[in-house]
Amino acid sequence: MNSPKIFAGSSNYNLTKLVSQKSKIPLGNIELGSFSDGEIDVWIKDDINNSSVFILQSNSTPVNNHIVELSLIADALKRSGADKITAVIPYFGYSRKEKQNRPGEPISAKVVADLITSSGISKVICLDLHADAIVGFFNVPVIYLSALETLAKRIKKENLKSPVVVAPDVGGVKRARNFASYLNAPLAVIEKHRQVSARDQIEVLSITGELIGDTAIIVDDIISTGGTITESAEVLKKKGVKKIIVCAIHPVFAGYAIKNIEKSPIDKMYVTDSIDQKNLKSKKIEIVSISDLIANCLIQEL
Ligand code: R5P
Repeated sequence: MNSPKIFAGSSNYNLTKLVSQKSKIPLGNIELGSFSDGEIDVWIKDDINNSSVFILQSNSTPVNNHIVELSLIADALKRSGADKITAVIPYFGYSRKEKQNRPGEPISAKVVADLITSSGISKVICLDLHADAIVGFFNVPVIYLSALETLAKRIKKENLKSPVVVAPDVGGVKRARNFASYLNAPLAVIEKHRQVSARDQIEVLSITGELIGDTAIIVDDIISTGGTITESAEVLKKKGVKKIIVCAIHPVFAGYAIKNIEKSPIDKMYVTDSIDQKNLKSKKIEIVSISDLIANCLIQEL
């Protein structure tokens, strides 16, 4: 039996390296590349016969490539004789399409879960899915982690005076309530309506809960265009909140998100490294690493 290895997909080498250092599971030797027509190719260069292996890959942009690459790595590991293949998926792309909003639509999260697991993966480790129900979409065991406590620990160091935790929509109430419980803080909820025909347009309706104190912490799972949090921040500002902090798990940062965040009333934002941010330039945004959380989980799995 060979020793366990952790293989990095191309989405998040930095996080994989940190997890490898902290868990003391060595990085596997893998060559990732593509053909001139765009097809992806992978090559496992280690002897992993009968070993337990991990692949770390977020389904972040370019999302479709990363999904295919993860599946190809899993297949290559299986054909190389790996005994147990665990996919660590810190950010699971397509998670926002976990149900049909109207007839004729796919349940994309289920399709992607099937695609990934059909390539030989025996276990999945994932983190703060857009909807908890997605755990049941995988036909293999799932370890479901949350980075909320890691983010809350970072916030506690700021010694904020009486902050209120704010859910930016009704769907995020459970997440925000969990976060608020780590800080012993009250909860407020912004009710928004998202128009199906204009996916990135939101309309803020009202706030329930009391905005006591000067500081609000908006908690969300994903920041994509930044529309949800910047609109929420505007509303809070108009209500007299002086300091606006955002805590979010997955920094997708699509399109002009960073620009929009920079010019918004948001004072500070904390996001995890579930999606690599090597080119990020922003004084407002701080990355809180989930490498300890994942490394500890892998150690338990050995
Ligand atoms: C929505 O239900 C999610 O929890 C996020 O609020 C949403 O995905 C954020 O997207 P955007 O940054 O484009 O508003």
